[in-house]
Amino acid sequence: MPLLKSLSIVMALLPAALAAADQPTRSPHTNYILRCAGCHGFEGLGTTEGDIPAFPDSVGYIASTEMGRTYMMHVPGVVSASLNNGEIAEVMNYILDIWGATDSGSPPEPFTEEEVTHRRAEPVPDVVAYRRLVVDELSAMGVTVAEYPWP
Ligand code: HEC
Repeated sequence: MPLLKSLSIVMALLPAALAAADQPTRSPHTNYILRCAGCHGFEGLGTTEGDIPAFPDSVGYIASTEMGRTYMMHVPGVVSASLNNGEIAEVMNYILDIWGATDSGSPPEPFTEEEVTHRRAEPVPDVVAYRRLVVDELSAMGVTVAEYPWP
């Protein structure tokens, strides 16, 4: 191929390549580190001072109920993360893979992008009150989830 022609192909492809470099696809692990670990910590333990609930022995149970799954799509980190719905599904599944084990042995269903889209569209005006409903339902089933200091 003549040099000029191959050069013009490179020039034609360059803007697309640069645009792609602008928005790299990040792995769920990287998204967790960048967008979630600041509050939830590398070990998913949260902090009592920050009122951030711990994930281990807890988030898997929350993800096993209908209401709990809707709740998870309205927590502050998800609402303000500027991740798209596919990335939210991936980062939630990452959390569930690492910290979502439950006593029943069956891991909670992974989230799909469609489920995230559908649940985010459901109105949850008060996420703290909504979590209380989730906790009440779980405690009626004999399950205790992570402590949460808010009344
Ligand atoms: C600015 C701090 C902050 C960041 C960043 C943050 N979260 Fe959270 N997260 C919270 C707080 C506070 C709660 C308690 C929920 C509430 O307000 O009812 C919570 C709760 C949760 C819960 C439910 C746990 C439970 O026991 O109630 C999940 C799941 C969750 N966050 C996922 C994420 C994900 C995924 C990210 C990153 C994309 C993220 N969070 C980033 C503060 C944060």
